[in-house]
Amino acid sequence: MLPGPTDIPEESYRAMGSLLINHRGREFREFHTQLIEKLKKIIGTKQDVFLLTCSATGGIEAAVSNVIEDGDRVLAFVAGQFGERFAAAARYYSENVVVVEIPWNRAPTVEDVRKGLSENRDVDVVLLVHNETSTGALASNIEEIAGECRRAGALLVLDAVTSLGGVPFSFDEMGIDLLVAGTQKCLAGPPGLAIVAVSKRAWEKIESLKKRPTYFDFTLHREFMSRGETPYTPAVTLFYGLDASLDRIFETGLNEWVDRHRRGAQAFYSSLGELGLEIYPLPEFRSPTLIAVKMPEGIRDVDVANIMAEKYGVHVGVGVARMKGRMIRIGSMGMVTAERIKASLRALCGALNEQGMRLDYTSVEGIVEESLSK
Ligand SMILES: Cc1ncc(COP(=O)(O)O)c(C=O)c1O
Repeated sequence: MLPGPTDIPEESYRAMGSLLINHRGREFREFHTQLIEKLKKIIGTKQDVFLLTCSATGGIEAAVSNVIEDGDRVLAFVAGQFGERFAAAARYYSENVVVVEIPWNRAPTVEDVRKGLSENRDVDVVLLVHNETSTGALASNIEEIAGECRRAGALLVLDAVTSLGGVPFSFDEMGIDLLVAGTQKCLAGPPGLAIVAVSKRAWEKIESLKKRPTYFDFTLHREFMSRGETPYTPAVTLFYGLDASLDRIFETGLNEWVDRHRRGAQAFYSSLGELGLEIYPLPEFRSPTLIAVKMPEGIRDVDVANIMAEKYGVHVGVGVARMKGRMIRIGSMGMVTAERIKASLRALCGALNEQGMRLDYTSVEGIVEESLSK
């Protein structure tokens, strides 16, 4: 129950034991092409998608290095640690990065973006984290946010690392320009790969760049992808694992897979409310994939997380940055089941009780069953 990597299906482990093949051969080209088609279905796009051999942070680096160059005006909305990292990544490529600070207990809204774009003229690129994994807040209305960016002539680059596969997605209809996602989160795939999707508008900017990165040059990725290849050696083993994970998603049904994240989070939020524990983000921003629980006064998150891991075998994240020491972050991503949610709540209650609380886990078991059976 980490905020990623999550557990992966058994068949993904098995697939990763397959023989390596020539990445310049027909077999790889066919396999890679159909893998990208599966990703396109999940992202909801007919535009270009690339699978990069690097973790999601590499995908972030790839995105910013392909659309930001010296002198570009960048507006970064920051509502947590991953927003901070996004802005920092952009600063390497342009010194003109303006940060719009958003309170960490919520996500950026359409109003924030509209205001930011009216107070900062001639913005070239907007950076926004869809699901802030450090705080458990989800930005909704991406379509409207993208509309604001388009009207202002700015590209929208979205960190969808912990939202893709966990919320309904339609890259083309939403009007996102560049999307970055991870494989080890809501897709229940192996860690070590990044997914990027590129819009037509983003291509105009990419093609106009005066300088290009080497490893992440998207024009090179497009050229090689046109024949089903990658410019450099791909992590074929991880591609196999991801392919098997995506098959599991389609067997489950993409809509059902995504909706389980919503129902799973609902089960967590209702149960935690019933137990009297405090959720960090404001109600309308609560993420369907990351459950951020504030620790009661005097209880340290690491103590609780250690007990959950050691005694119950349930691994969760703790508070980071401003929330260091004060928050348990439960990843409800990928294979969301009633059993996993119940095990997490049982472990959380047990650990908090060892820290002096008196919580009755059995009082919420029924809530989980009910939410997940819907
Ligand atoms: C929102 C967000 N962005 C970026 C990252 C970085 O991903 P990775 O660790 O795969 O580089 C994470 C990882 O947790 C994340 O949650």
